Amino acid sequence: MAEFKEAPAGSSAMTQTTVWLENRFPSAFAGYRQHLSEYYAPKNFNFWYFFGALSMLVLVIQIVTGIFLTMHYKPDAAKAFESVEYIMRDVPWGWLVRYMHSTGASAFFVCVYLHMFRGLIYGSYQKPRELVWIFGCAIFLCLMAEAFMGYLLPWGQMSYWGAQVIINLFAAIPFVGEDLALLIRGDFVVGDATLNRFFALHVIAVPLVLLGLVVAHLLALHDVGSNNPDGVEIKAKKDANGVPLDGIPFHPYYTVHDILGVSVFLLLFSAVVFFAPTMGGFFLEFNNFIPADPLKTPAHIAPVWYFTPYYSMLRAVTDPFVMVLVVLIGVAGVLATLFGGFRGVWKFMPLVAAIFTAALLLVFDAKFWGVVVMGLAVMIMFPLPWLDRSPVRSIRYRPSWNKWLYGIFVVNFFVLGYLGIKPPSVAGTLVSQIGTLFYFGFFLLMPWWSRLGEFKPVPDRVVFAAH
Ligand code: HEM
Repeated sequence: MAEFKEAPAGSSAMTQTTVWLENRFPSAFAGYRQHLSEYYAPKNFNFWYFFGALSMLVLVIQIVTGIFLTMHYKPDAAKAFESVEYIMRDVPWGWLVRYMHSTGASAFFVCVYLHMFRGLIYGSYQKPRELVWIFGCAIFLCLMAEAFMGYLLPWGQMSYWGAQVIINLFAAIPFVGEDLALLIRGDFVVGDATLNRFFALHVIAVPLVLLGLVVAHLLALHDVGSNNPDGVEIKAKKDANGVPLDGIPFHPYYTVHDILGVSVFLLLFSAVVFFAPTMGGFFLEFNNFIPADPLKTPAHIAPVWYFTPYYSMLRAVTDPFVMVLVVLIGVAGVLATLFGGFRGVWKFMPLVAAIFTAALLLVFDAKFWGVVVMGLAVMIMFPLPWLDRSPVRSIRYRPSWNKWLYGIFVVNFFVLGYLGIKPPSVAGTLVSQIGTLFYFGFFLLMPWWSRLGEFKPVPDRVVFAAH
């Protein structure tokens, strides 16, 4: 047991209480020091570094508003829609709680997408932060599952038909698909059983996993220390006390600094909640104000905006697109065999692998590969730390053309997102096919392009001018 401390004679009641508490709960105080007052964060954090803290804030908003919604919501196919209307019209402040929760879902994705993009441009996933990134990717997956299941709960037309479409995708998986879809639905069509299990998963199972992953994400980050916009390792230069020369205590410096980000965020968040809660149909789709009707399929079913880039990639996979993939894989196999430096028995390995993959592509139908492409679009982010071979972390010191490449990546993501909202069209499908190839090309060819060009010298210390 740690030794008991004594409060100095004549100290204030506050000090005495603190000492009393520390003697009985030393690990809480050690935790406070390790993660706040003695966690040295780089002093050059910029705007992009607000979004981790903001994601945490939105997580809290979602949990608190979710608890209050659960007090009045009925997870019953015959009552769910009405119970949401009851929350909106009769429960005191129910409208506010519901709009905060629905706006919070979109705000969560805004914050998390910006947070991930920050990681991408500053190479925050590179050694030694691979696990921080991997926990982040797992969080992203959970978040998608959480949002998808939450969307079924109001039991509106879009809830119902959106779930129907997505769950039916699983049925496209060879051999096990039908059984898997049945397991997810709990019935042959989306129904009361589906609503019940989605409710259980949405309110307790996934949030628990999400919380656990966020804790792991932050513990792993605090073990290795934060990256920064220069990508310079601040732990490499320490003073006599072992404190990084470019580090400042997280508390009070960044806790106060984050108040700015939180204030601006809350202003924008309130503006949406009070003045545009549906955000023109982007945050709450208009069709979802109509009760679910299993006999009436809406003319156009589109997921909420944060899923649409992936939805576009799913729709991009048509039979001709599969043929293009077969040709691309064939060419890659031939090139790798000729110039890949494989020797002996391994010489023809790339060609054999390419023929095998191409054969697989032709055996199963395009719908299945659409599902695979959609899944891979998210999964491809996990190995990013190993795909990026750049000798420097931050985009600031990478070749200048990298900024264009990342810019096009963002524009492409937006275009895919836009196309995912629109009904399918010939031109739209073609553009989303090109966009899908670019998206995957960006990641798969990263081991090659991330080494190209002239890198700028990385400074020894972070670049920062106090303001
Ligand atoms: C609920 C969602 C999330 C929460 C609450 C969260 C929270 C945080 C916080 C508080 C930080 C430290 C402050 C900062 O650097 O901004 C951080 C850092 C980081 N997060 Fe997340 N995060 C979430 C999701 C993600 C996702 C989805 C990814 C990536 C796929 C990710 C990757 C990272 C990385 C790489 C860092 C280190 C950044 C650096 O040091 O430059 N996070 N996260």
